[in-house]
Amino acid sequence: MGDARVQNFGIKITGSGSAVPATCLDNQVLTQLVETSDEWITTRTGIRQRRLASFDESLTTLATVASRQAIAASGITPGDLDLIVLTTSTPDDLFGTACQIQAQLGATKAVAFDMTAACSGFVFGMVTAAQFIRGGVYQNVLVIGADILSRWVDWQDRGTCILFGDGAGAVVMQKSETSDRLLGFELKSDGTQNHYLNLPYKGESQQLAADINVTKGTYQPITMNGKEVYRFAVLRVPEVIDKALFHANLSVEKIDWLLLHQANQRILDAVAQRLNIPDSKVISNLAQYGNTSAASIPLALDEAVRSGKIKPGDIIAASGFGAGLSWGAVIFQWGREKE
Ligand code: COA
Repeated sequence: MGDARVQNFGIKITGSGSAVPATCLDNQVLTQLVETSDEWITTRTGIRQRRLASFDESLTTLATVASRQAIAASGITPGDLDLIVLTTSTPDDLFGTACQIQAQLGATKAVAFDMTAACSGFVFGMVTAAQFIRGGVYQNVLVIGADILSRWVDWQDRGTCILFGDGAGAVVMQKSETSDRLLGFELKSDGTQNHYLNLPYKGESQQLAADINVTKGTYQPITMNGKEVYRFAVLRVPEVIDKALFHANLSVEKIDWLLLHQANQRILDAVAQRLNIPDSKVISNLAQYGNTSAASIPLALDEAVRSGKIKPGDIIAASGFGAGLSWGAVIFQWGREKE
């Protein structure tokens, strides 16, 4: 472990899993909370319902269920894992939640850490994991995307509360000596537009002693400029997918599945249209779950794999985008090599 010599191994993505809370909030019930309608939400977003974590559910419990499935599907055991990357903006503990998941899984050998890139988190996490595998440092990596944004939604703000839901998804990425199935990627950040989508810490100055002040407060509910975020996504996502395809040396026709962060059906449709990808290749499950942030891509991936839609060897263009602002795309081939 930790060998700094540069080597170049391939990557295979061999198993997926997902979990959502049992509680379901549909658009009709939302009309009791804010002035809205099922028709408005459905036509503007495509979302019909979302799952919400109850008091006795946590990021750790959801992520652990998703992870166990991904590990089993990949044919390894928790003890084989070298690294766990948890991408989330809503940890159970600000010091990090990945170690609690490591303990729950019994992944005693694995090093575990959290990383945050909001709704781009899972794509950023896959690319981060890939660097450890490529260099020959680690063989078996679990990448989790999990969020409980319901903790931070302002349930009186109809501009945001209609969008978000909770969930978790995970994949196992492994070293391959025979092929490389992570074909290309591109990641981007633009902090100058950070104010369009925030979950900011706000505090007040508290005096401890003469000339010594600290700040005490908490995080404030999500604020968003929906129109600007929409504009950003529709412009930047096709661009970043094009760049990732260029790195992969692939043309857009080679994509079997377009797997976008599930933010809004209109964004999915507009991006597919700009890239000239037919609707039949667009994976969408946001009608059931809404925007589950870092969880949305692995959750949709896992459902499509388990339903038999995504088959081994299929080429997937995945793209995450959101707060930061951050956005990125990764092109990969699903499953292990032919055995
Ligand atoms: N129900 C009913 N009316 C609503 C509403 C709701 N839930 N939310 C907003 N409205 C109203 C507004 O108040 C506004 O009324 P007005 O014209 O009287 O002022 C009108 O509907 C239009 O609002 P607007 O914000 O312009 O709507 P929109 O077409 O931009 O749709 C979003 C709003 C949020 C659905 C859309 O901007 C969006 O999806 N943006 C991207 C957000 C996103 O995906 N964020 C996460 C990225 S990770």
